[in-house]
Amino acid sequence: MRLFKLFLCGIFLAAFWSCSDLGDPYVEAECPDDQIKDCAGVCGGTAVLDECDICSGDGLTCNVDYSTQIQPIFTSNCNGCHIGGTSGGLNLSVGSSYNNLVNVTSPNYSPALRVNPSSASTSVLWNKIAGGTNGSQMPMNGPYLSQADIDLIETWINEGAQDN
Ligand code: HEC
Repeated sequence: MRLFKLFLCGIFLAAFWSCSDLGDPYVEAECPDDQIKDCAGVCGGTAVLDECDICSGDGLTCNVDYSTQIQPIFTSNCNGCHIGGTSGGLNLSVGSSYNNLVNVTSPNYSPALRVNPSSASTSVLWNKIAGGTNGSQMPMNGPYLSQADIDLIETWINEGAQDN
């Protein structure tokens, strides 16, 4: 009898412990039926992160910074040829690149603008790095930019090509 009581006590304790975290307000509820939570936390919802990593954002509000995010891409990948205005007559060096790109008509791909603010797809710069139209893809002979860098330049142009 004494052993049986001990046994019951053991069961009681085990049950008590295993339930002790029920009702913890910080445990996230799982979605029913294997649904996946979207970025807004809605089970089976359709909200997605935009290219600025904002949930349900319009992709136009992250304000890519020209001097700290775009120029370094040119400095590391383009300045071997585009310094002092040699290749394609384009100087992409620190301090000059912005004024040589934004709202400047390309001498070789006229009437297109090198950077047409808010329109990456009609900008010579974006077509050159994405390998679309406007001749050889840049950097000439590769290696080409990562998709993340191409997307960043696209976002910067589509945000209005700010000089920030
Ligand atoms: C190995 C040399 C080389 C590198 C590196 C290079 N380019 Fe070029 N680029 C050229 C040459 C040569 C031309 C002219 C021929 C042409 O338009 O394809 C040119 C032309 C261009 C033009 C057209 C300019 C105009 O208005 O006619 C753009 C825009 C451009 N490059 C962007 C870039 C960017 C951005 C990078 C870096 C991501 C880069 N290039 C890296 C050699 C290079």
